[in-house]
Amino acid sequence: FQVPSAYNEPVKSYAPGTPEREEVLKQYNDYYNGTVEVPLYIGSDQIKTGNTRPMSPPHEHQHVVGHYHLAEKKHVEEAISNCLESRSAWANLPWEQRAAIFLKAAELLAGPYRAKINAATMMAQSKTIHQAEIDAACEFIDFLRFNVEFMSQIYAEQPESSDGIWNRVEYRPLEGFVYAITPFNFTAIAGNLPASAAMMGNVVIWKPSDSQVFSAKVIIDVFKEAGLPDGVINVVFGDPVMVTETVLSSPDFSGLHFTGSTFVFKELWKQIGTNIHTYKTYPRIVGETGGKDFIVAHPSANPKQVATAIVRGAFELQGQKCSAASRVYLPKSIANEILDLVKADVASINKPGSPADMSNFVTAVIHEGSFDKLASYIDQAKKDDEVEIIAGGGYDKSVGYFIEPTVILTKDPKYTTMCTELFGPVVTIYVYDDKDWAETLKLVDGTSEYALTGAVLATDRYAIEEASKALQDCAGNFYINDKPTGAVVGQQPFGGARASGTNDKAGSAQNLLRWVSPRLIKETF
Ligand code: ALA
Repeated sequence: FQVPSAYNEPVKSYAPGTPEREEVLKQYNDYYNGTVEVPLYIGSDQIKTGNTRPMSPPHEHQHVVGHYHLAEKKHVEEAISNCLESRSAWANLPWEQRAAIFLKAAELLAGPYRAKINAATMMAQSKTIHQAEIDAACEFIDFLRFNVEFMSQIYAEQPESSDGIWNRVEYRPLEGFVYAITPFNFTAIAGNLPASAAMMGNVVIWKPSDSQVFSAKVIIDVFKEAGLPDGVINVVFGDPVMVTETVLSSPDFSGLHFTGSTFVFKELWKQIGTNIHTYKTYPRIVGETGGKDFIVAHPSANPKQVATAIVRGAFELQGQKCSAASRVYLPKSIANEILDLVKADVASINKPGSPADMSNFVTAVIHEGSFDKLASYIDQAKKDDEVEIIAGGGYDKSVGYFIEPTVILTKDPKYTTMCTELFGPVVTIYVYDDKDWAETLKLVDGTSEYALTGAVLATDRYAIEEASKALQDCAGNFYINDKPTGAVVGQQPFGGARASGTNDKAGSAQNLLRWVSPRLIKETF
């Protein structure tokens, strides 16, 4: 079978007067004025446990837009049993049938669910409509379409046969179930982690982030409407420690598909190691974690291009992309010109506000914990002599968790905010002497334990080549003359190494192959 050729979903503009703008604002207001109740999805049941937590938008934390139900241990155990009961029928369904479900989900997201998934993402994660559209609509649709194409290519890949011998490979799903733990910051990732494992014939327990439940509900509604059978993806909310301990102690646990913090991923890895003797099979462990992503400019760089890369790379989505630019190295000869451009750009976007006001570029950070942490780094920077805050530095949590886009200039290339992942709208800049270009590349490589994304800006091809070689291990996604964010599915498969993850690129056949356990069959005639 030939699957439909995958293509990137065109991004809508949401310009004033467009129908998509009217529609998404109406949906946002309906969500804002209503209340939604989110149950657990286990098998064919939608379980309301009665133990609930409120959901509030980060930009208006006193306003409640719904509640979600929390699982107890017995619900997690039920979810595991449901997975295992559903496994055989799902694993043995011809792959074209599975592909059709996910292609249908892509079309639902492109059409009738587009306003819903975008408005839910604006509400739950405080994304501007433009950030919601490129994530919750386009990237999610792209993951589904491209993964179906990669899946068909994987199944077509067969070994050579010879006279009297027929060799063939069956791409079986893993024996057991997959556990997907997903982050708040991308609705597309939240949908893709359970979907990519399920697409390959696996059954899944999905634990979304508590800060993303609103959009998680829309995702599961879409999958169900697209025809995903009950029990294939079971959704549980609740105490992460209890849920995870229950899931990881099952002998049928066979894979972890994770995006989140480095600390949590390492803890999960340890727990899996501790339980290794209980599992029927060696679990697959796939994780994308933190980043301390860099921009390094060469004296030959175009200052305007560097300034745009800094402002967009650091402040879109309030810097809450694992790929966000958070440490910058500028050469002295052009640093002042770049800093003036950055200050002017930041001044024009510096008032964070609600995403319902579509003129806002910056909205709220995800929750109080994140707000307090960022505020404390900003306070410290105000006290430290080796640094100066050259833009932003304000914050206010009276209505929403608002942090101004903040630029710190440091004399110390190893200052805390050059090394620590902050996950917010704070970028730190170090100015180096032009003659120290080679040393600076070593500094970029040696400053962080992470290796997710990074960008070099230069017009000198020798400099680009030098940076590309010197930085070959410190960014899984390396950008030349661009910001280090915004990977597009089907064009820039995404993932990093070192403390940033297992580098099983999201949106690639390599990732899908982690969710199969191939059986080679040799038949002799
Ligand atoms: N895939 C996201 C990006 O590239 C994280 O920015």
